[in-house]
Amino acid sequence: MKLIPEILQAKPQIEKIRRDIHAHPELCFQEQRTSDVIAKQLESWGLPVHRGLGKTGVVAIIEGQGPGKKIGLRADMDALPLQEHNRFAHASKHEGKMHACGHDGHVAMLLGACEYLAKHRDFKGTVYAIFQPAEEGGGGAREMIKDGLFDLFPCDAVFGMHNWPGLAVGEFGVTPGPMMASSNEFRITVTGKGGHAALPHNSADPLFAAAQIIQGLQGIITRNKRPVDSAVLSITQCHAGDASNIIPDSAWIGGTVRTFTIEVLDLIESRLRHIAGTVAQAYDCKADVEFLRNYPPTINHEKETAFAISVMQELVGEHRVNPRIDPTMGAEDFAYMLQAKPGCYAFIGNGDGDHRSTGHGMGPCHLHNPTYDFNDEILPLGSSYWVKLAQKYLASES
Ligand code: NI
Repeated sequence: MKLIPEILQAKPQIEKIRRDIHAHPELCFQEQRTSDVIAKQLESWGLPVHRGLGKTGVVAIIEGQGPGKKIGLRADMDALPLQEHNRFAHASKHEGKMHACGHDGHVAMLLGACEYLAKHRDFKGTVYAIFQPAEEGGGGAREMIKDGLFDLFPCDAVFGMHNWPGLAVGEFGVTPGPMMASSNEFRITVTGKGGHAALPHNSADPLFAAAQIIQGLQGIITRNKRPVDSAVLSITQCHAGDASNIIPDSAWIGGTVRTFTIEVLDLIESRLRHIAGTVAQAYDCKADVEFLRNYPPTINHEKETAFAISVMQELVGEHRVNPRIDPTMGAEDFAYMLQAKPGCYAFIGNGDGDHRSTGHGMGPCHLHNPTYDFNDEILPLGSSYWVKLAQKYLASES
Protein backbone atom coordinates (compact mmCIF):
# COMPACT_ATOMS: atom_id res chain seq x y z
CA MET A 1 0.00 0.00 0.00
CA LYS A 2 1.37 3.41 -0.98
CA LEU A 3 -0.19 5.78 1.53
CA ILE A 4 1.10 9.34 1.66
CA PRO A 5 3.47 9.48 4.70
CA GLU A 6 2.44 13.00 5.74
CA ILE A 7 -1.22 11.95 5.75
CA LEU A 8 -0.38 8.92 7.89
CA GLN A 9 1.34 11.23 10.36
CA ALA A 10 -1.72 13.50 10.47
CA LYS A 11 -4.04 10.57 11.28
CA PRO A 12 -4.47 11.30 15.04
CA GLN A 13 -5.64 14.83 14.27
CA ILE A 14 -8.07 13.71 11.52
CA GLU A 15 -9.34 10.90 13.75
CA LYS A 16 -10.04 13.46 16.47
CA ILE A 17 -12.17 15.50 14.06
CA ARG A 18 -13.99 12.36 12.91
CA ARG A 19 -14.85 11.33 16.46
CA ASP A 20 -15.93 14.85 17.39
CA ILE A 21 -18.34 14.90 14.43
CA HIS A 22 -19.53 11.39 15.33
CA ALA A 23 -20.34 12.56 18.85
CA HIS A 24 -22.36 15.52 17.51
CA PRO A 25 -24.56 14.13 14.71
CA GLU A 26 -26.96 16.46 12.87
CA LEU A 27 -29.82 15.55 10.53
CA CYS A 28 -30.67 16.67 6.96
CA PHE A 29 -30.15 20.41 6.37
CA GLN A 30 -29.43 20.97 10.09
CA GLU A 31 -25.65 20.39 9.81
CA GLN A 32 -24.84 23.77 11.40
CA ARG A 33 -22.24 22.70 13.92
CA THR A 34 -20.78 20.17 11.48
CA SER A 35 -20.35 22.78 8.75
CA ASP A 36 -18.86 25.22 11.32
CA VAL A 37 -16.27 22.60 12.33
CA ILE A 38 -15.45 21.89 8.67
CA ALA A 39 -15.17 25.56 7.68
CA LYS A 40 -12.99 26.37 10.70
CA GLN A 41 -10.58 23.56 9.84
CA LEU A 42 -10.38 24.59 6.19
CA GLU A 43 -9.76 28.23 7.08
CA SER A 44 -7.03 27.22 9.54
CA TRP A 45 -5.20 25.73 6.54
CA GLY A 46 -5.54 29.04 4.66
CA LEU A 47 -8.26 27.85 2.28
CA PRO A 48 -11.05 30.11 0.99
CA VAL A 49 -14.41 28.65 1.94
CA HIS A 50 -17.86 29.15 0.39
CA ARG A 51 -20.87 28.40 2.59
CA GLY A 52 -24.65 28.13 2.32
CA LEU A 53 -25.31 26.14 -0.89
CA GLY A 54 -28.13 23.72 -0.01
CA LYS A 55 -28.45 25.63 3.31
CA THR A 56 -25.45 24.13 5.11
CA GLY A 57 -23.12 23.11 2.25
CA VAL A 58 -19.43 24.01 2.41
CA VAL A 59 -17.05 24.23 -0.56
CA ALA A 60 -13.29 24.72 -0.18
CA ILE A 61 -11.31 26.09 -3.10
CA ILE A 62 -7.75 24.80 -3.45
CA GLU A 63 -5.89 26.59 -6.24
CA GLY A 64 -2.72 25.06 -7.66
CA GLN A 65 0.15 26.72 -9.54
CA GLY A 66 -1.57 28.36 -12.48
CA PRO A 67 -4.68 27.54 -14.51
CA GLY A 68 -5.71 24.02 -15.41
CA LYS A 69 -8.52 21.53 -15.03
CA LYS A 70 -11.02 21.56 -12.19
CA ILE A 71 -11.97 18.53 -10.13
CA GLY A 72 -14.75 18.18 -7.54
CA LEU A 73 -14.39 15.83 -4.55
CA ARG A 74 -17.56 15.29 -2.55
CA ALA A 75 -18.29 14.15 1.01
CA ASP A 76 -21.76 13.99 2.58
CA MET A 77 -22.08 15.18 6.18
CA ASP A 78 -25.52 14.36 7.60
CA ALA A 79 -26.52 11.77 10.24
CA LEU A 80 -29.59 9.53 10.74
CA PRO A 81 -32.58 9.64 13.11
CA LEU A 82 -31.43 6.59 15.08
CA GLN A 83 -30.53 5.95 18.73
CA GLU A 84 -26.89 4.82 18.96
CA HIS A 85 -26.24 1.59 20.93
CA ASN A 86 -22.46 1.94 21.07
CA ARG A 87 -21.00 3.03 24.39
CA PHE A 88 -17.50 4.10 23.43
CA ALA A 89 -16.26 7.56 24.35
CA HIS A 90 -17.20 9.17 21.02
CA ALA A 91 -20.77 7.76 20.91
CA SER A 92 -23.52 10.22 19.99
CA LYS A 93 -24.32 12.93 22.51
CA HIS A 94 -27.50 13.81 20.61
CA GLU A 95 -30.52 11.74 21.66
CA GLY A 96 -32.07 9.88 18.74
CA LYS A 97 -29.43 10.97 16.22
CA MET A 98 -26.45 8.96 15.00
CA HIS A 99 -23.74 8.87 12.35
CA ALA A 100 -24.78 5.35 11.36
CA CYS A 101 -23.76 5.69 7.71
CA GLY A 102 -20.20 6.90 8.23
CA HIS A 103 -20.65 10.38 6.77
CA ASP A 104 -18.52 11.56 9.72
CA GLY A 105 -15.70 9.48 8.21
CA HIS A 106 -16.40 10.81 4.71
CA VAL A 107 -16.00 14.37 6.02
CA ALA A 108 -12.79 13.47 7.86
CA MET A 109 -11.20 11.71 4.83
CA LEU A 110 -11.88 14.73 2.62
CA LEU A 111 -10.59 17.14 5.28
CA GLY A 112 -7.39 15.08 5.51
CA ALA A 113 -6.96 15.47 1.75
CA CYS A 114 -7.68 19.21 1.91
CA GLU A 115 -4.98 19.76 4.54
CA TYR A 116 -2.39 17.96 2.43
CA LEU A 117 -3.36 19.69 -0.83
CA ALA A 118 -3.42 23.10 0.90
CA LYS A 119 0.23 22.55 1.91
CA HIS A 120 1.35 21.00 -1.39
CA ARG A 121 0.16 23.14 -4.28
CA ASP A 122 2.43 21.41 -6.77
CA PHE A 123 -0.38 20.95 -9.29
CA LYS A 124 -2.05 23.03 -12.00
CA GLY A 125 -5.75 23.78 -11.85
CA THR A 126 -8.23 23.69 -9.00
CA VAL A 127 -9.62 21.24 -6.48
CA TYR A 128 -13.12 21.92 -5.15
CA ALA A 129 -13.82 20.03 -1.92
CA ILE A 130 -17.61 19.76 -1.65
CA PHE A 131 -19.14 19.04 1.78
CA GLN A 132 -22.77 18.26 1.10
CA PRO A 133 -25.79 18.22 3.43
CA ALA A 134 -28.81 15.93 3.52
CA GLU A 135 -27.83 12.79 1.63
CA GLU A 136 -30.23 10.70 3.73
CA GLY A 137 -33.45 11.49 1.88
CA GLY A 138 -33.16 15.28 1.61
CA GLY A 139 -31.48 15.43 -1.80
CA GLY A 140 -28.75 17.78 -0.57
CA ALA A 141 -26.76 17.22 -3.77
CA ARG A 142 -29.73 18.35 -5.87
CA GLU A 143 -30.20 21.41 -3.62
CA MET A 144 -26.54 22.44 -3.89
CA ILE A 145 -26.75 22.13 -7.69
CA LYS A 146 -30.00 24.17 -7.73
CA ASP A 147 -28.22 26.84 -5.68
CA GLY A 148 -25.51 27.10 -8.35
CA LEU A 149 -22.81 24.65 -7.22
CA PHE A 150 -21.49 23.96 -10.72
CA ASP A 151 -21.94 27.58 -11.91
CA LEU A 152 -19.80 28.88 -9.07
CA PHE A 153 -17.44 25.90 -9.13
CA PRO A 154 -17.33 24.57 -12.72
CA CYS A 155 -15.93 21.07 -12.18
CA ASP A 156 -14.73 19.12 -15.22
CA ALA A 157 -15.45 15.94 -13.27
CA VAL A 158 -16.75 15.04 -9.84
CA PHE A 159 -15.96 12.07 -7.59
CA GLY A 160 -17.71 10.55 -4.55
CA MET A 161 -16.90 7.74 -2.12
CA HIS A 162 -18.78 5.71 0.48
CA ASN A 163 -17.38 3.39 3.16
CA TRP A 164 -18.59 -0.17 2.64
CA PRO A 165 -18.91 -2.60 5.58
CA GLY A 166 -18.05 -6.17 4.62
CA LEU A 167 -15.47 -5.00 2.09
CA ALA A 168 -12.03 -5.54 3.67
CA VAL A 169 -9.91 -2.69 4.99
CA GLY A 170 -7.48 -1.66 2.23
CA GLU A 171 -9.86 -2.60 -0.58
CA PHE A 172 -11.93 -0.60 -3.05
CA GLY A 173 -14.96 -1.65 -5.08
CA VAL A 174 -16.49 0.16 -8.04
CA THR A 175 -18.13 -0.48 -11.39
CA PRO A 176 -18.78 1.53 -14.55
CA GLY A 177 -22.46 2.13 -15.33
CA PRO A 178 -25.15 1.69 -12.66
CA MET A 179 -23.61 1.62 -9.18
CA MET A 180 -26.74 2.30 -7.10
CA ALA A 181 -30.45 2.22 -7.92
CA SER A 182 -33.17 4.81 -8.35
CA SER A 183 -35.36 5.09 -5.26
CA ASN A 184 -39.10 5.63 -5.62
CA GLU A 185 -42.14 5.24 -3.40
CA PHE A 186 -45.82 4.73 -4.10
CA ARG A 187 -49.15 4.64 -2.33
CA ILE A 188 -52.28 3.11 -3.80
CA THR A 189 -55.57 4.02 -2.14
CA VAL A 190 -58.39 1.64 -3.01
CA THR A 191 -61.88 2.97 -2.38
CA GLY A 192 -64.93 0.71 -2.40
CA LYS A 193 -68.15 0.57 -0.42
CA GLY A 194 -68.10 -0.45 3.24
CA GLY A 195 -70.71 -2.50 5.03
CA HIS A 196 -71.50 -5.48 7.26
CA ALA A 197 -68.86 -8.21 7.06
CA ALA A 198 -71.59 -10.87 7.12
CA LEU A 199 -73.23 -9.35 4.02
CA PRO A 200 -70.29 -8.86 1.62
CA HIS A 201 -72.57 -8.97 -1.42
CA ASN A 202 -73.89 -5.54 -0.40
CA SER A 203 -70.38 -4.04 -0.35
CA ALA A 204 -67.48 -3.41 -2.70
CA ASP A 205 -64.61 -4.73 -0.56
CA PRO A 206 -61.49 -2.56 -0.99
CA LEU A 207 -59.36 -5.01 1.05
CA PHE A 208 -60.09 -7.87 -1.32
CA ALA A 209 -59.27 -5.65 -4.30
CA ALA A 210 -56.06 -4.45 -2.62
CA ALA A 211 -55.00 -8.06 -2.06
CA GLN A 212 -55.44 -8.79 -5.79
CA ILE A 213 -53.44 -5.66 -6.64
CA ILE A 214 -50.58 -6.79 -4.35
CA GLN A 215 -50.47 -10.12 -6.20
CA GLY A 216 -50.79 -8.46 -9.60
CA LEU A 217 -47.95 -5.98 -9.06
CA GLN A 218 -45.35 -8.73 -8.66
CA GLY A 219 -46.25 -9.78 -12.20
CA ILE A 220 -44.64 -6.55 -13.43
CA ILE A 221 -41.28 -7.83 -12.20
CA THR A 222 -41.66 -11.36 -13.60
CA ARG A 223 -43.82 -10.76 -16.74
CA ASN A 224 -43.34 -7.20 -17.98
CA LYS A 225 -39.75 -6.03 -17.56
CA ARG A 226 -37.00 -7.81 -19.45
CA PRO A 227 -35.39 -10.56 -17.36
CA VAL A 228 -31.94 -9.00 -17.92
CA ASP A 229 -33.04 -5.72 -16.27
CA SER A 230 -32.79 -5.56 -12.48
CA ALA A 231 -35.65 -4.11 -10.46
CA VAL A 232 -37.27 -4.44 -7.04
CA LEU A 233 -40.91 -3.80 -6.18
CA SER A 234 -41.70 -4.29 -2.49
CA ILE A 235 -45.06 -3.70 -0.83
CA THR A 236 -44.18 -2.59 2.69
CA GLN A 237 -47.43 -1.14 3.99
CA CYS A 238 -51.03 -2.36 3.96
CA HIS A 239 -53.61 -0.54 6.05
CA ALA A 240 -57.39 -0.87 6.39
CA GLY A 241 -60.23 -1.46 8.77
CA ASP A 242 -60.96 -1.12 12.48
CA ALA A 243 -63.18 -4.09 13.34
CA SER A 244 -63.61 -7.74 12.42
CA ASN A 245 -67.26 -7.34 11.46
CA ILE A 246 -66.98 -4.27 9.24
CA ILE A 247 -65.86 -4.12 5.64
CA PRO A 248 -64.06 -0.77 5.44
CA ASP A 249 -64.70 1.91 2.82
CA SER A 250 -61.08 2.08 1.77
CA ALA A 251 -57.66 0.47 2.06
CA TRP A 252 -54.20 1.62 1.09
CA ILE A 253 -51.00 -0.14 0.23
CA GLY A 254 -47.56 1.39 -0.10
CA GLY A 255 -44.06 0.37 -1.07
CA THR A 256 -40.85 1.08 -2.93
CA VAL A 257 -39.55 0.57 -6.46
CA ARG A 258 -35.82 0.38 -7.27
CA THR A 259 -34.34 0.32 -10.79
CA PHE A 260 -31.02 0.98 -12.49
CA THR A 261 -32.52 2.84 -15.46
CA ILE A 262 -35.23 5.44 -16.04
CA GLU A 263 -36.65 3.34 -18.90
CA VAL A 264 -37.39 0.42 -16.57
CA LEU A 265 -38.77 2.83 -14.00
CA ASP A 266 -41.11 4.37 -16.61
CA LEU A 267 -42.34 0.89 -17.52
CA ILE A 268 -42.95 -0.13 -13.90
CA GLU A 269 -44.78 3.06 -13.01
CA SER A 270 -47.05 2.82 -16.04
CA ARG A 271 -47.82 -0.88 -15.46
CA LEU A 272 -48.42 -0.23 -11.74
CA ARG A 273 -50.96 2.49 -12.53
CA HIS A 274 -52.67 0.29 -15.12
CA ILE A 275 -52.89 -2.83 -12.91
CA ALA A 276 -54.06 -0.91 -9.83
CA GLY A 277 -56.74 0.89 -11.84
CA THR A 278 -58.10 -2.07 -13.77
CA VAL A 279 -57.97 -4.60 -10.92
CA ALA A 280 -59.77 -2.19 -8.59
CA GLN A 281 -62.36 -1.59 -11.28
CA ALA A 282 -62.88 -5.35 -11.70
CA TYR A 283 -64.10 -5.46 -8.09
CA ASP A 284 -66.22 -2.27 -8.33
CA CYS A 285 -63.59 -0.19 -6.53
CA LYS A 286 -61.43 2.77 -7.53
CA ALA A 287 -57.65 3.10 -7.16
CA ASP A 288 -55.80 6.41 -6.70
CA VAL A 289 -52.07 6.06 -7.29
CA GLU A 290 -49.40 8.41 -5.96
CA PHE A 291 -45.97 7.61 -7.38
CA LEU A 292 -43.04 9.64 -6.07
CA ARG A 293 -39.63 9.54 -7.76
CA ASN A 294 -36.97 10.22 -5.14
CA TYR A 295 -33.33 9.68 -6.19
CA PRO A 296 -32.41 8.74 -9.77
CA PRO A 297 -29.97 5.86 -10.35
CA THR A 298 -26.29 6.56 -9.65
CA ILE A 299 -24.57 5.93 -12.99
CA ASN A 300 -20.77 5.94 -13.14
CA HIS A 301 -19.18 7.33 -16.28
CA GLU A 302 -16.88 4.91 -18.17
CA LYS A 303 -13.82 7.10 -18.59
CA GLU A 304 -13.76 8.60 -15.10
CA THR A 305 -14.37 5.17 -13.55
CA ALA A 306 -11.45 3.65 -15.46
CA PHE A 307 -9.36 6.58 -14.26
CA ALA A 308 -10.44 6.15 -10.62
CA ILE A 309 -9.67 2.43 -10.83
CA SER A 310 -6.14 3.20 -12.06
CA VAL A 311 -5.59 5.48 -9.04
CA MET A 312 -6.94 2.83 -6.62
CA GLN A 313 -4.70 0.17 -8.18
CA GLU A 314 -1.61 2.35 -7.83
CA LEU A 315 -2.53 2.97 -4.21
CA VAL A 316 -3.39 -0.51 -2.91
CA GLY A 317 -2.39 -2.91 -5.71
CA GLU A 318 -4.51 -4.51 -8.41
CA HIS A 319 -5.64 -7.44 -6.27
CA ARG A 320 -7.26 -5.09 -3.73
CA VAL A 321 -9.53 -3.35 -6.23
CA ASN A 322 -12.75 -4.93 -7.47
CA PRO A 323 -13.39 -3.07 -10.76
CA ARG A 324 -16.75 -4.83 -11.34
CA ILE A 325 -18.39 -4.88 -7.92
CA ASP A 326 -22.09 -5.82 -7.83
CA PRO A 327 -24.19 -2.66 -7.85
CA THR A 328 -26.60 -2.28 -4.93
CA MET A 329 -30.32 -1.50 -4.84
CA GLY A 330 -29.68 1.22 -2.26
CA ALA A 331 -29.81 4.81 -3.49
CA GLU A 332 -27.51 7.82 -3.25
CA ASP A 333 -28.06 11.47 -4.13
CA PHE A 334 -24.59 11.74 -5.69
CA ALA A 335 -26.69 10.52 -8.65
CA TYR A 336 -27.64 14.18 -9.28
CA MET A 337 -23.99 15.22 -9.49
CA LEU A 338 -23.31 12.41 -11.96
CA GLN A 339 -26.27 13.61 -14.06
CA ALA A 340 -24.69 17.07 -14.18
CA LYS A 341 -21.00 16.14 -14.56
CA PRO A 342 -18.94 13.12 -15.56
CA GLY A 343 -17.50 11.25 -12.61
CA CYS A 344 -17.33 8.16 -10.47
CA TYR A 345 -18.76 6.98 -7.15
CA ALA A 346 -16.82 4.23 -5.37
CA PHE A 347 -16.83 2.07 -2.23
CA ILE A 348 -13.92 1.94 0.23
CA GLY A 349 -13.78 -1.12 2.52
CA ASN A 350 -14.81 -0.49 6.14
CA GLY A 351 -13.99 -4.05 7.31
CA ASP A 352 -16.12 -6.40 9.40
CA GLY A 353 -16.59 -4.23 12.48
CA ASP A 354 -13.83 -5.69 14.66
CA HIS A 355 -12.35 -2.18 15.03
CA ARG A 356 -15.02 -1.35 17.60
CA SER A 357 -14.22 -1.76 21.28
CA THR A 358 -15.67 -5.00 22.60
CA GLY A 359 -17.82 -5.91 25.59
CA HIS A 360 -21.00 -4.00 24.82
CA GLY A 361 -22.96 -6.81 23.19
CA MET A 362 -22.67 -5.02 19.89
CA GLY A 363 -24.54 -6.07 16.77
CA PRO A 364 -23.37 -6.08 13.16
CA CYS A 365 -21.36 -3.12 11.94
CA HIS A 366 -23.69 -2.50 9.01
CA LEU A 367 -24.77 0.83 7.57
CA HIS A 368 -27.86 2.26 9.32
CA ASN A 369 -27.41 -0.19 12.23
CA PRO A 370 -27.35 1.28 15.78
CA THR A 371 -24.01 -0.41 16.53
CA TYR A 372 -22.22 0.78 13.38
CA ASP A 373 -19.06 2.90 13.61
CA PHE A 374 -16.81 4.24 10.87
CA ASN A 375 -13.40 2.53 10.88
CA ASP A 376 -10.69 5.11 11.64
CA GLU A 377 -8.01 2.80 10.21
CA ILE A 378 -9.16 3.70 6.69
CA LEU A 379 -8.90 7.48 7.17
CA PRO A 380 -5.34 7.74 5.73
CA LEU A 381 -6.28 5.49 2.79
CA GLY A 382 -9.35 7.55 1.95
CA SER A 383 -7.42 10.83 2.21
CA SER A 384 -4.54 9.43 0.14
CA TYR A 385 -7.01 8.30 -2.54
CA TRP A 386 -8.52 11.79 -2.77
CA VAL A 387 -5.08 13.43 -3.01
CA LYS A 388 -3.73 11.05 -5.67
CA LEU A 389 -6.99 11.22 -7.61
CA ALA A 390 -6.78 15.03 -7.70
CA GLN A 391 -3.05 15.16 -8.50
CA LYS A 392 -3.31 12.62 -11.30
CA TYR A 393 -6.50 14.08 -12.75
CA LEU A 394 -5.10 17.60 -12.87
CA ALA A 395 -1.86 16.33 -14.41
CA SER A 396 -3.69 14.45 -17.18
CA GLU A 397 -4.09 15.93 -20.65
CA SER A 398 -7.74 15.32 -21.58
NI1 NI B 1 -24.44 6.98 3.45
